[in-house]
Amino acid sequence: MSALLEFRDVSVDYGTSPALIGVSLEIGAGRVVSLLGGNASGKSTTMKTILGVVRPRAGSVWFDGEDITRWSTPRRIRAGIASVPEARRVFPEMTVEDNLLMGAFTRTDRAVRSSLADIYAFFPRLAERRRQLAGSMSGGEQQMLAFGRALMSGPRLICMDEPTMGLAPVIVEQVLAHVAAINRDLGVSVLLVEQNAELALQVADRGYVLRTGEVALHGSSTELLAHPGVREAYLGQGIAPLAAADGIRAVDVEEESP
Ligand SMILES: Nc1ncnc2c1ncn2[C@@H]1O[C@H](COP(=O)(O)OP(=O)(O)OP(=O)(O)O)[C@@H](O)[C@H]1O
Ligand SMILES: [Mg+2]
Repeated sequence: MSALLEFRDVSVDYGTSPALIGVSLEIGAGRVVSLLGGNASGKSTTMKTILGVVRPRAGSVWFDGEDITRWSTPRRIRAGIASVPEARRVFPEMTVEDNLLMGAFTRTDRAVRSSLADIYAFFPRLAERRRQLAGSMSGGEQQMLAFGRALMSGPRLICMDEPTMGLAPVIVEQVLAHVAAINRDLGVSVLLVEQNAELALQVADRGYVLRTGEVALHGSSTELLAHPGVREAYLGQGIAPLAAADGIRAVDVEEESP
């Protein structure tokens, strides 16, 4: 399967401090890929680099066979890249419907109305609440709205930054079911940023583990779930610091050279 999105040896600095160091990764068309790692490992920076909010110092970013490294964010969105930011940032004082329409700001065509209808069909709860102020919805509903808003630009890839963060376990299950449905039913590829590897790898085909800005491990979800280093660092402990993964040694998983 050809890659829809690809990083080739991408390095990003904030001032003089490196945030990503020679990161190469691929998201295949139609796939769900999870990006794992502890605090400050570079997950959000990777997402911002895909969106063009930050620019690489070195390396290149490819989407659908084109080098998009120098493209503006609106151009990337028009090409089919969307994002769901951290902490479900919806516009609390706006209605559900106005929040959704904000997601279509790059589009001028009449397709916007039909996209709205499609999203209401996909998330009937949003249709029922279209006149409600977004800030008065539950956490799970706001996450649904954040997904709906991302879908309004008609994306081929959605990057999601920790969509389950701070939600009760039963709601987390619903959010992950929505992620799976967005991929399966709508054919949208997903980059799922998560600290909780066990949850992320349940819905993802493959995963990358970042450690202080570098890819420490990557492999299929099955391989990563079985990997002793990943198990030790993440599983059964909820959110664990990535420092615990220092002992990772690949056996059946592809490991990046240090
Ligand atoms: N705007 C910025 N200016 C300077 N440094 C930054 C900026 N944004 C991020 N960083 C630094 O870059 C590194 C990677 O941050 P990033 O937000 O990508 O990590 P993360 O994996 O998303 O962490 P978390 O799990 O806490 O969300 C951190 O050391 C962080 O302090
Ligand atoms: Mg982050």
